[in-house]
Amino acid sequence: MKRPKTQDERDLLLYESRLLRPVRLKTPEFERGGRIRHVIFSGQFSVPFLEELAGIADMIRLMSKSREGQDFLINLLPHKRAMLYFTQPSTRTFLSFMAACQVLGITCNEVRDPSTSSETKGETRFDSIRMFSSYFDVIIMRSPIARLAESCAYLMNDLDSTGNRSVPIVNAGSGADEHPTQALLDIYTLQRSFQFASPKDSPTANKFDELRERKGYAGLTKGLPHKTIGFCGDIGRGRTVRSLAMLLALYEGVRLVFVAPNHPKLAMRDDLRHRLLDRKVCFHEVESFEDTLDGRPVIEQLDALYMTRIQKEHNDPADAASMASIDFSRYGLTPELVGRMKEYAPILHPFPRDQHFGEIPPEIDNDPRAMYFRQARNGMWIRAALLAHVFDADRLISRHFMTDYVERHNYND
Ligand code: NCD
Repeated sequence: MKRPKTQDERDLLLYESRLLRPVRLKTPEFERGGRIRHVIFSGQFSVPFLEELAGIADMIRLMSKSREGQDFLINLLPHKRAMLYFTQPSTRTFLSFMAACQVLGITCNEVRDPSTSSETKGETRFDSIRMFSSYFDVIIMRSPIARLAESCAYLMNDLDSTGNRSVPIVNAGSGADEHPTQALLDIYTLQRSFQFASPKDSPTANKFDELRERKGYAGLTKGLPHKTIGFCGDIGRGRTVRSLAMLLALYEGVRLVFVAPNHPKLAMRDDLRHRLLDRKVCFHEVESFEDTLDGRPVIEQLDALYMTRIQKEHNDPADAASMASIDFSRYGLTPELVGRMKEYAPILHPFPRDQHFGEIPPEIDNDPRAMYFRQARNGMWIRAALLAHVFDADRLISRHFMTDYVERHNYND
């Protein structure tokens, strides 16, 4: 980091030695009593945790279908208040967190525009965060500054260890760095899709046995292990890609294919490459869907495809000039390309999609493989499950579901 000029910069520097540690040394600090307290990066989740969280999200989803279930959920956390501190544009993440809070009865408050907060009077971000922790019980934050959420978690831990009030921090997107809760909803969408159970979640629901008899699908299994997942677009600056790739790396035999222009800002960054290499994940970097994988074009080999938009807002004039010769049409889907994909392969996108770039033209929305609207709705359920976990209400949800709900509604039949 360059020489700090402001207190904000000095504050971040204070935590630099902690920020630079390997993930495995940091994660215990984000937990309390064996439960996740601060949600900072996807490297802190394990497969059993992801399974457990998906189970809670499924229960919340089902309970929300009835008035009685909604009443139970809304009475779980009415004594909790959340601060949504979003100083970077957001629609889905903000609204789905708000809706998730509302499902559980948590009261929401927001600061979205720093010009309406005391930061314009010279207040540091750390002072703002500490103030929020005086009034609220969780801080859900999005910031253009990489690692700010992580530093705020250390601030909260330091306050805690000196006997001061301290609340959980949830990272809702930190610069180009990480977006762990988006990765949770992406994984949840893939988990549901690869169950091949419901037509809303899978393009080929209830056709699993039939699929396995088809030419080319013989080795198909349920679940995430051994799947080939493609990522296309702005891999370098896409924090959702970074967070999801690290989660997929947890599953046995998963293979990742990154389809991006060979440009330093758009292709995979070294830190992600090194993390994947460290984990011995099999991955390929290609420049087009037509490049080959196991002797066939990539587009025909994917079990799922994660599209992203090109994040032009981060371009400086030199980037724009150096990108002028790139053929970007290769990084957009067409009905013809989708037609060549595996019949069961879901198409995801963190959204927003860019209508001008057209990485997913609306003609594709009616294809059963288009899972992005479902994926956005899944965000509300998985975020509700996550907040229930953070506030220790998940056990109450599963107890209620197992006794009252399952018996009364008998979903086991
Ligand atoms: C993304 C983000 O903000 O990182 N969107 C999201 O949270 N759903 C991706 C983007 O802006 O392209």
